[in-house]
Amino acid sequence: MSQSLATVAYLGAAILFILSLGGLSNPETSRRGNLFGMIGMALAVLATVFGPRVDAAGIAWIIAALVVGGGIGLYAARVVKMTQMPELVALMHSLVGLAACLVGFASYVDTSVQFQGAEKIIHEVEIYIGILIGAVTFSGSLIAFGKLNGKIGGKPLLLPARHWLNLVALLVVIWFGREFLNAHDAGAGMTALIVMTAIALLFGVHMVMAIGGADMPVVVSMLNSYSGWAAAATGFMLSNDLLIVTGALVGSSGAILSYIMCNAMNRNFISVIAGGFGSGGGTPAKKGDAAEPQGEVVPVSAAETAEMLKDAKSVIIVPGYGMAVAQAQHTVCEITKTLREKGVDVRFAIHPVAGRMPGHMNVLLAEAKVPYDIVMEMDEINEDFPEADVAMVIGANDIVNPSAAEDPESPIAGMPVLEVWKARNSIVMKRSMASGYAGVDNPLFYKENNRMLFGDAKKMLDEVLGALKG
Ligand code: TAP
Repeated sequence: MSQSLATVAYLGAAILFILSLGGLSNPETSRRGNLFGMIGMALAVLATVFGPRVDAAGIAWIIAALVVGGGIGLYAARVVKMTQMPELVALMHSLVGLAACLVGFASYVDTSVQFQGAEKIIHEVEIYIGILIGAVTFSGSLIAFGKLNGKIGGKPLLLPARHWLNLVALLVVIWFGREFLNAHDAGAGMTALIVMTAIALLFGVHMVMAIGGADMPVVVSMLNSYSGWAAAATGFMLSNDLLIVTGALVGSSGAILSYIMCNAMNRNFISVIAGGFGSGGGTPAKKGDAAEPQGEVVPVSAAETAEMLKDAKSVIIVPGYGMAVAQAQHTVCEITKTLREKGVDVRFAIHPVAGRMPGHMNVLLAEAKVPYDIVMEMDEINEDFPEADVAMVIGANDIVNPSAAEDPESPIAGMPVLEVWKARNSIVMKRSMASGYAGVDNPLFYKENNRMLFGDAKKMLDEVLGALKG
């Protein structure tokens, strides 16, 4: 394939990626968005493999790598549960970071292309920055993976003078950058690169370790953005335009998503980028006192729940992580259908960080074929709770916690939440009095107009559905 044909293919792929991102912004167009992304990626891979820069021996290596990588990807896609997606995504971001580091070191030791003068400086700056971003992304994503799957505790690790430590690390990295660019031989340059890589790896660990469990969603999307910039840096090192464009798309869309999530959780974007996020405001999640049950709750049965739903004119369902764990979305859809047939107005309220990944609840509800037009975002529906007869919370906890709005000392203070307690009645469906992801007690459970339906969401909803139909 000629260079110009490869360039046209890259341009086509870049346009398809932009259309893909546009499609993914709405559940109704997301399938098409996915399709555009897949075609764009296939085009990009084919144009690279059969492009002018790969020879016959290279093709064999690429095919071998495709088989191994594709096999692992296929296996992961089959066995990884929806609720484990964020961990998988974090792990994949770490691979992007690792790739940027490896490409950076390979570019530095590659003597087949000799750069001179300004070109040499630009190439070395690309290498230095590429490895820097790659190493931070690699170690930060591995820690995020550990935190998300529970192997590393969710409590923020707050080293004394951590901001100063970060500042010193930054200054040392800048100083070694100067040493790297002024190095007279490859050995001296390599020493500077290795020291910088070690500091960047430690910085990545430190940055994510300092972040509280409840704030991990923003970190995952922030690392997504970092992985995009790492890919863009790799594109500069390899002089690959498509990688630069794609990396910039991922980098900027990840940054925009982080910004939106920051707003949804009332956090400051700058403090996220600087690390140590989620630990400065309120006290960190206290498992001891804050998580202790602080009052009396009123349990209800599935039959009583069905009665309340049947008698209601307007019902708002709030799904959360527990619905995903129990895989109760299909029963939820059945209940919705049954209630609507009885003339009850049923709508869904979706919090931007419900579940464990962006759009988690939308994906599950779409899978169960809940109509899109009754699925509302938090801002669209929050004012309607006072008019609702029943707000039914299914396996959600932090996102309906009134202390976010009422208790300035709460670890989740200031986070916008779904105000279900303002409904005439609320029913919370969960297995126990255990706290949610943020590890804080939820005063909603003890409100006078709240009832608790204890049990696995799927099992209890099946019983509710049976009672509704019976
Ligand atoms: P959580 O606050 O984590 O609460 C989920 C509740 O579901 C738990 O209290 C649990 O109580 C219940 N549950 C678990 N399994 C269940 C089952 N089989 N049947 C019924 N209930 C079950 O979830 P949320 O309200 O959706 O809030 C999300 C939290 O995760 C936020 O703190 C958010 O910041 C964080 N987070 C979000 C993301 C993204 S991007 N969405 C990523 C990482 C973290 P029991 O154990 O008593 O049943």
